[in-house]
Amino acid sequence: MMRTRPLKVALLGCGVVGSEVARIMTTHADDLAARIGAPVELVGVAVRQPSKVRAGIDPALVTTDATALVKRGDIDVVIEVIGGIEPARTLITTAFEHGASVVSANKALLAENGAALHAAAEQHGRDLYYEAAVAGAIPLVRPLRESLAGDKVNRVLGIVNGTTNFILDKMDSSGAGYSEALDEATALGYAEADPTADVEGFDAAAKAAILAGIAFHTRVKIGDVHREGLTEVTAADIASAKRMGCTVKLLAICERAADGNSVTARVHPAMIPLIHPLASVREAYNAVFVEAEAAGQLMFYGPGAGGPPTASAVLGDLVAVCRNKLGGSTGPGESAYTRLPVSPMGEVVTRYHISLDVADKPGVLAQVATVFAEHDVSIDTVRQSGKDGEASLVVVTHRAPDAALSGTVEALRKLDTVRGVASIMRVEGE
Ligand code: NDP
Ligand code: HSE
Repeated sequence: MMRTRPLKVALLGCGVVGSEVARIMTTHADDLAARIGAPVELVGVAVRQPSKVRAGIDPALVTTDATALVKRGDIDVVIEVIGGIEPARTLITTAFEHGASVVSANKALLAENGAALHAAAEQHGRDLYYEAAVAGAIPLVRPLRESLAGDKVNRVLGIVNGTTNFILDKMDSSGAGYSEALDEATALGYAEADPTADVEGFDAAAKAAILAGIAFHTRVKIGDVHREGLTEVTAADIASAKRMGCTVKLLAICERAADGNSVTARVHPAMIPLIHPLASVREAYNAVFVEAEAAGQLMFYGPGAGGPPTASAVLGDLVAVCRNKLGGSTGPGESAYTRLPVSPMGEVVTRYHISLDVADKPGVLAQVATVFAEHDVSIDTVRQSGKDGEASLVVVTHRAPDAALSGTVEALRKLDTVRGVASIMRVEGE
């Protein structure tokens, strides 16, 4: 039975994502009504610049007073696509206080204040949904929160930032420069308002924190995630990866420790073999592997950024939240009962690719190998190319703790024969 009284929706933000949300709400209004069981009506659109021309948006709905909009008291669902911490945080809590459920795409806020926002939603008996916050259009949050709720997830690994994948793909495949590729990603609507969030790994770290929290039923904040961006990745690293039959990707990796008593979460560039499925993830696509005890390995793949893909995830949440509302229920809240601590990066065990500039004379290789041995880091392969008394040495190690590798590099830097450590990159996915 279709209810005739519409559910009222307030849209906070009408940029890359918000404008697409509004467009789909309008063009698919009849289908959405049929799927929900009631029409949904956009009753207000909060923005910063009211005079901007916004195709398809009734100017009468546009306001700069987002607070008044969420305080109306008759709003069923607030969609927050402003981004950043404030005013988004206050607007979302005010929305709960005034009876609305919330759909948000704001990973930065959820990774910083997720626990408090979930608590506010629960206190007011409302929903907080955020599928769009992680990996754009890819259904990942709901599968982890609901479909895998009966299993034990041990690992989540993948590419969760479209902008950086786009940049690395362009640098690798067409030899484009870093700035040129970033400009293109920004023009296509993939990058954050401040693209530093993408290239320095903050955006991926926020997503890793959200994924780790849901996957391991614990609380992980963005500050708990070890983060390295791609600004240090050089054309030489990419060329070296190619020589090894690898490519470079910015990965997010969340793992439960073997003893089950802690978790780790990290974001950093890594070399992965060309035969690994993540190596073929191109442009702004994302892909995430989830390893669960009973399910085994699952792969989620799709567009990770951009207006229409992200709006698809927002609309999916809108339908779910509206259905809950009509059914007089709410969806799953926060599940953080395991309270597992997050271990430091030093405890992570993986492989490394280290590129050194050294003097090309007898005994240097032995000196370098001794430093690795003294730190209990076992060498897998060594490649040397030399010219005019200087050489470039590329060492790939077997698996070793990150702390042992850091100690090795510190000691290598002190050797007279080591002119410099050109790059250190982890090797994953083997
Ligand atoms: P944009 O910068 O394109 O849009 C932001 C919108 O918020 C604009 O309409 C802006 O108004 C409005 N706004 C900014 N400050 C205020 C304020 N104080 N009060 C009211 N409105 C305000 O961002 P995106 O659409 O790209 O991103 C929105 C959110 O979605 C972010 O959390 C982002 O991380 C997330 N997201 C983005 C994806 C993408 O591919 N772009 C993918 C997944 C998630 P005005 O138009 O007047 O400037
Ligand atoms: N800036 C983000 C990215 C948007 O490039 O992945 C999607 O979350």
